[in-house]
Amino acid sequence: MSKHVLVTGGAGYIGSHTVVALVEKGYTPIIVDDFRNATEVALNGLTEILGFQPTIHRVDVCQIDEMRAIFNEYSFHGIIHFAAYKAVGESVEKPLQYYQNNLVGLLNMLSLMEEFKVLNFVFSSSCTVYGEPKETKEVHEETPKSLPESPYGYTKWIGEQIILDFFKSAPDFHLMNLRYFNPVGAHPTAKIGEFPLGKPNNLLPFVTQTAIGKQACLTVFGDDYPTRDGSCVRDYIHVMDLAEAHVQAIQFLEKQEKGCLEAVNIGTGTGTTVLEVIHVFEKVSNQQLNYQIGPRRAGDVIEIYANATKSQELLNWKAKRSIEDAVRDAWNWELALNELK
Ligand code: UD1
Repeated sequence: MSKHVLVTGGAGYIGSHTVVALVEKGYTPIIVDDFRNATEVALNGLTEILGFQPTIHRVDVCQIDEMRAIFNEYSFHGIIHFAAYKAVGESVEKPLQYYQNNLVGLLNMLSLMEEFKVLNFVFSSSCTVYGEPKETKEVHEETPKSLPESPYGYTKWIGEQIILDFFKSAPDFHLMNLRYFNPVGAHPTAKIGEFPLGKPNNLLPFVTQTAIGKQACLTVFGDDYPTRDGSCVRDYIHVMDLAEAHVQAIQFLEKQEKGCLEAVNIGTGTGTTVLEVIHVFEKVSNQQLNYQIGPRRAGDVIEIYANATKSQELLNWKAKRSIEDAVRDAWNWELALNELK
């Protein structure tokens, strides 16, 4: 019998790609998404890629009674919990909404998995839990966490703490925090991808939207940092690699005979500067990008990238796609979106 995996936020950016990766490995994803930060485009794209419409429940994960009804309907093999707000700047303006949504959603998932004895749980965490790395820019899972810079960051930081405390009280569960670095790119078919509502905050959507003319000019936030070209360094990970990491995480958890709680970095292990991303874009799209150098952005980490050893050892997962692949897929997705309008 096919294993049902609950994917909260399954119509969102990382969630939708994970739905594809789950189906490829024979799982049956059950999506819960209330579409507050997703669109029907994702659902149509998923249907085209999969060849069938995935099961979807339009429910807010914060509504525990509605969620309980879904848990009653299926016997879940595992849960991948994406549904959360993720914009750093917005979280500073609306901290209560961020804490309310991200923490209540997580608490509901843990309560229901305990109530229904769903053993396997994967949480969308972030490299933001490391803050600004102190000694080395390459962070491994044992690198001490620092206090985050934003309410968004705190929701991930506190989320991991909640999961730890839950595990201490319920040590039979199989729990994993995946600490994502910077997810970029899109499905190679260009049927699903990132769909920023409003002005994008993240680098790559801003790059592709500038190239297509939706934004006038990209501003590079600072070129006077102590890095190889003065711009910030991040570990950009192709969203399909990231999606596959979730499936490997479920496969790891389901094999465990005893309860466990693990945190695993999901990155490539390589840092790329903002200016390098721009140059990769110019190369793969064969066009010049309109950009300018601007002031530093408040709260930006200077340089961070993953130590990617644990993901390989524990999950047998490592990133297969290059930054060129990611930028090309992101650009094809932007072009496809343009056709839709
Ligand atoms: C941030 C969060 C991360 C979160 C992610 C989700 C921190 C430290 N990191 O990542 O935890 O998961 O958002 O949205 O809070 N840049 C420009 N011009 C732009 C946009 C970005 O130069 O118009 C630069 C930024 O200064 C940064 C890099 O591009 O150096 C990447 O920025 P972004 O895509 O926003 O991601 P992070 O800030 O790394």
